[in-house]
Amino acid sequence: MDLVVVSNRVARAKANEPMTGGLAAALLPVVERSGAIWVGSSGRVRDNVSKDSFAEIESLGAGALALLDLPAAHYGGYYEGFANSALWPALHSRTDLISVSQDNYQCYREVNAFMARALMRFNKPSAAFWIQDYHFLTLGAEMRELGVRNPLGFFLHTPWPARRVIAGVPHHRDLVESMLAYDLIGFQTEDDCENFATYLRAELGLEVEGGSVSSRFGTSRIAVFPIGIDVDGFAAQAQRAASHPDVSRLRKSLHGERLAIGVDRVDYSKGLVNRIGAFDRLFEIQPSLKRSVSLLQIATPSRGGIEAYSNLQDELSRQVTEVNGRHGEVDWTPIRYLSKGFSQTVLAGFYRAAQVGVVTPLHDGMNLVAKEYVAAQNPIDPGVLVLSKFAGAANELDTALLVNPHDIDGMARTIATALSMPSTERRMRWEAMMAKLRAGTIHSWFAGFIEALETAHTGMGPSLLP
Ligand code: F6P
Repeated sequence: MDLVVVSNRVARAKANEPMTGGLAAALLPVVERSGAIWVGSSGRVRDNVSKDSFAEIESLGAGALALLDLPAAHYGGYYEGFANSALWPALHSRTDLISVSQDNYQCYREVNAFMARALMRFNKPSAAFWIQDYHFLTLGAEMRELGVRNPLGFFLHTPWPARRVIAGVPHHRDLVESMLAYDLIGFQTEDDCENFATYLRAELGLEVEGGSVSSRFGTSRIAVFPIGIDVDGFAAQAQRAASHPDVSRLRKSLHGERLAIGVDRVDYSKGLVNRIGAFDRLFEIQPSLKRSVSLLQIATPSRGGIEAYSNLQDELSRQVTEVNGRHGEVDWTPIRYLSKGFSQTVLAGFYRAAQVGVVTPLHDGMNLVAKEYVAAQNPIDPGVLVLSKFAGAANELDTALLVNPHDIDGMARTIATALSMPSTERRMRWEAMMAKLRAGTIHSWFAGFIEALETAHTGMGPSLLP
């Protein structure tokens, strides 16, 4: 089978480039090894694009990276418009932030159709296509329209919300009906998969039996594939990173002070305001912790053209200034707030230098920062993970200190507990989490999905086309 992986954002194999995290960083090591072709957006747009206008095709490990310029006329409506102002808030249960227009939906459909035409270049009898994430819900249906009968898999990296929430997007039926063109639809958690099955039954009147559902496209399978990380690779990277100048500077700056770390894109789903609020509260209820712990919050700017994101960025800057003003001293800053990205290597070193990892999203498909923080720890003296129970990762990392990110007082108390946890308990919790990470790595996730895709497709004959 010749695998073609498709995602909006791709990652390049350059160890020192800043990473925005998420799926691109996670897929890089495994796609490199697999020999797959990875197709994605070049990040550039053009007026006169043609399906053959791949900006670049370069080698990537045993395979290739093919980057496509997207049509200028539709890009804004697709990316900032429908994908990130309608779908993203809906998928993260923020119906108050859903903003839709027919024009944006049209742009989303156009870009999906354009990508489908471009993918024809890689279509051959042995090809299987694995499409990633909410940017391409309708890509599979467009490919079927073009006559593609090959295996088509889809994996959603975000949560899939309750049926009434996704129904807040006026085009929900069209979107979900199109998704059934995929042979296999994968989710991060049982809850997401269950929500999707409930939607199919209640909104589309379909029968879902043992993870199979029939539609005009044939039979699709729906299943759960929690994404993992390259545990041993990340652990080794964290160990090596100790000598990186940025990591040494961070360690030197601590003067015996302990460090908590948060690493996130600036996104309302990440619970950043609540997290900073919890540190504010922590210094209020335990003033003895002043000067003995600080939070390093790396807050990478994201989707700045969307009002909800630029507002959040402003709000966070104000909040951090206030908290630092309230609790800080001439020679001590409680919140070290950095609005930029760092390379995977430097992040790995930062995680290892921090005694507490704070990963407290309001909603998250998986959250790989949680897994990376755990993998980066020194086995002899591991740090403590404070993890939101609303991150997909909480299903596996259940020996982290689980918190409700809406409960600011509770989070503050839990951070204090993390800081005073004896080393035997830290090690016990950490070892249990490492065992879970080893049981489900990025490699087993990748192989497991591909195997399930082959099986799911076998049941689909030439009657596949509408
Ligand atoms: O699943 C969500 C996701 O696709 C992640 O891979 C990543 O963290 C984020 O969204 C990337 O967003 P963007 O490409 O808009 O920066």
